[in-house]
Amino acid sequence: MRNVTEETLTQIFLDYCGPETTPRLRYLLEHLVHHLHSFVRETELTHAEWRKAIELLSKAGEISTPERNEFVLFSDVLGLSSLVDMVNSKPDATSSSVLGPFHILGAPDLAYGGDLKADNDGATVVVKGSVRDRQGEPIKGAAIELWQTAENGLYSNQDPAQPEYNLRARMHVGDDGGYALTTVRPAPYSVPDDGPVGELLHATGRQPWRPSHLHFIITAPGYRSLVTEVFPSDDPFLDADAVFGVREDLIMEYVEQTDKQIVSDDFEARQRLTSPFYTVDFDFILAEETE
Ligand code: BEZ
Ligand code: FE
Repeated sequence: MRNVTEETLTQIFLDYCGPETTPRLRYLLEHLVHHLHSFVRETELTHAEWRKAIELLSKAGEISTPERNEFVLFSDVLGLSSLVDMVNSKPDATSSSVLGPFHILGAPDLAYGGDLKADNDGATVVVKGSVRDRQGEPIKGAAIELWQTAENGLYSNQDPAQPEYNLRARMHVGDDGGYALTTVRPAPYSVPDDGPVGELLHATGRQPWRPSHLHFIITAPGYRSLVTEVFPSDDPFLDADAVFGVREDLIMEYVEQTDKQIVSDDFEARQRLTSPFYTVDFDFILAEETE
């Protein structure tokens, strides 16, 4: 096409897509290019602004490593990751929330009532609850994976002082759908702001902190996997999460306890509990795979 104009460009792009383009790819590109081109027309984007955007993306490429993906971080702080979570969520199931960059495969198995706190400093927390379907029935075959920061706000893969799989575990629920473990209360932390994402945050007067949270992945045969995180109601950053991960149904309480008797005696760490400790009760609801 030799006579490309502002008006015809979007359609010409679509006409260039050949017959090998799948219907879904065509649909996605149609909408993507339509919105991108409209953005340029509506904002009358200047060359300098376009160059700045390309410069930020180039810096994102340069700073990214296998441990740090700055493109995912851009998606997070722009609210894109959370919007993808929201449009894919199912009614009456637990909301999903960002995976984040600190998940690693291979977390060790922990038995019901096992201790994840080990030698970590900080308040002991008994985390317990169940995995259920949308009718409230326990999901017997469910597996639950948890990872979190230590009290210093760092994940094990950010902190050489921590053992490789510190504060990471995978557990199978019991026949009643229940899970339980002891761990430590995590701390709020800031997303990396020493790269181009930080440049954007600083240019817009935004702070890089996330409220403290426990990350979970819940899987069960026949059910949609759930990637989520839960946040304490008293966290100072609950209403200011830099990556928009907080949902009403993901808010929990750390309840201070002084009586060990409330923890059943099949808990590995029960003997070592010192008062006060905290409990968190959180139930996960999974949607069926077929939906
Ligand atoms: C996290 O929760 O680990 C996280 C999520 C998004 C960006 C940075 C960190
Ligand atoms: Fe996190």
